[in-house]
Amino acid sequence: MLWTRVTPSADAVPGSGLGAATTIKWEVALDAGFRDVVKQGEAVASADRDHTVHVDPWDLAADTVYFYRFAVVDGEFAGHVSPTGRTRTAPDFDASPEQLNLAVASCANWESGFFSAYTDIANRAQAGDLDLLVFLGDYIYEYGTGEAAGPHGPFRIHEPAWETVTLQDYRMRHGRYRTDPELQAAHTALPWVVVWDDHETADNSWRGGAQNHSPAEGDWLTRRNAALRAYFEWLPVRATSPSEEGHIYRSLRFGDLVELTMMDLRTYRDQQARWAVGAIGDEGRTMMGSEQFEWLRRKIETSSAHWNVMGSSVMVAPLNLITLQQNEQTSSVADFLGSHASGVPLNPDQWDGYTADRVRLLDVLEAHGSNVLFLSGDIHTEWANSLWHGGREIGVELVCSSVSAPNVDEQLGLPADNAVSHLAEQLVRDANPHVRHVDLDSHGYSIARVRRDEVQMHWLRVDDVEVQGAAVREAVGLVWRAGGGPPSKLPVTDRLQGLNQQ
Ligand SMILES: [Fe+2]
Repeated sequence: MLWTRVTPSADAVPGSGLGAATTIKWEVALDAGFRDVVKQGEAVASADRDHTVHVDPWDLAADTVYFYRFAVVDGEFAGHVSPTGRTRTAPDFDASPEQLNLAVASCANWESGFFSAYTDIANRAQAGDLDLLVFLGDYIYEYGTGEAAGPHGPFRIHEPAWETVTLQDYRMRHGRYRTDPELQAAHTALPWVVVWDDHETADNSWRGGAQNHSPAEGDWLTRRNAALRAYFEWLPVRATSPSEEGHIYRSLRFGDLVELTMMDLRTYRDQQARWAVGAIGDEGRTMMGSEQFEWLRRKIETSSAHWNVMGSSVMVAPLNLITLQQNEQTSSVADFLGSHASGVPLNPDQWDGYTADRVRLLDVLEAHGSNVLFLSGDIHTEWANSLWHGGREIGVELVCSSVSAPNVDEQLGLPADNAVSHLAEQLVRDANPHVRHVDLDSHGYSIARVRRDEVQMHWLRVDDVEVQGAAVREAVGLVWRAGGGPPSKLPVTDRLQGLNQQ
């Protein structure tokens, strides 16, 4: 899905509803110099889609790097040409690729810092080291300025400065994000496979509302539909909105190596147990909704891919926070990991709050027998978890940290790698032996290198999100092999080649 946005006149800023319909020409070529153009066509950008353009070129060759660009055909800016994008198609259905290199990212709060993680993703993709970016949600944050920027922020101001509620607000917010050169570079360098979490609409959303939504802000579904309309306009995704009887959950196949299933864990879920009547483990409570679950069950049962890779906006492995809560020094860390003073020793917004649905999902994955890799986000911290079900280890979970949204050290007003964070990490590991890696203070992203017999997992950290152009370095590398026990340290020879390191 090729994407651009046209500004046909100075007043046609995102969310304005202004500006004439404008014809653009698109081209797809095998070379960055556009000598070998293989596809071209025209499309119209208009105010009813905030002048965003989605082009689905179809019938491109499999497993091929392409370059694309757009040119304005009519109006004031006729002849203007966009920057050149680079993308890569998936391997053929029947192909047997040796490996698939996935960048994994989530949680980019504009006001909390800078997007150095996106620059590193762009550099590695341009160097040919990444096939695609799996984005697990919180692409934008809905807050008004200063509301969730962290104790040092805001480092730059949201547009609009107020909390996003209307279609115009969400369009303005997306438009502001897309002015960021680091985010632009990451979209320009590789294909993104995206799903939303809560902040694309409002904090801790569920099917009937959100923690950060009040009746004074109007009807929830009106707000949600406005947010998702802006999302579908501004993100390069081939899906249709639930408000148009569509859905964003989908699966993508990469030869016989990977079936990548992106789940929608916000649109159909019941209310978090913290507010709802009823217990976390109630059989009737759902995270996925029955339609998505039945689709997913059939997909997994009929998949012949070697790996089931599950894009999950929230963490799936159980996380017991009781020892954190009981320790005076770390009780505020428990509040952070538990979605803030939930009163129960777990996070009811994660899969821990929907245990019956988790059992149903893991039953299906275990019965199918292929290797399971969960890619998860949301919690702004790094994790590697062994996934146990039915008395055996069926897979592994990689949780990426946040691109910039605050985590534990910022929440506590302490420096990174402080004694309280380290104590909390130790208590978490002791109480949760399936947790093989946890870091509570870092920002960045992850890379999953999926091979036939193993997955290599890398956590890359931004030196300082408060500094523009900060270096990004690999901090931790683990490998997991089916039947080989819990994830273990990668040998030094398998560490990532340094890029962008100072
Ligand atoms: Fe987040």
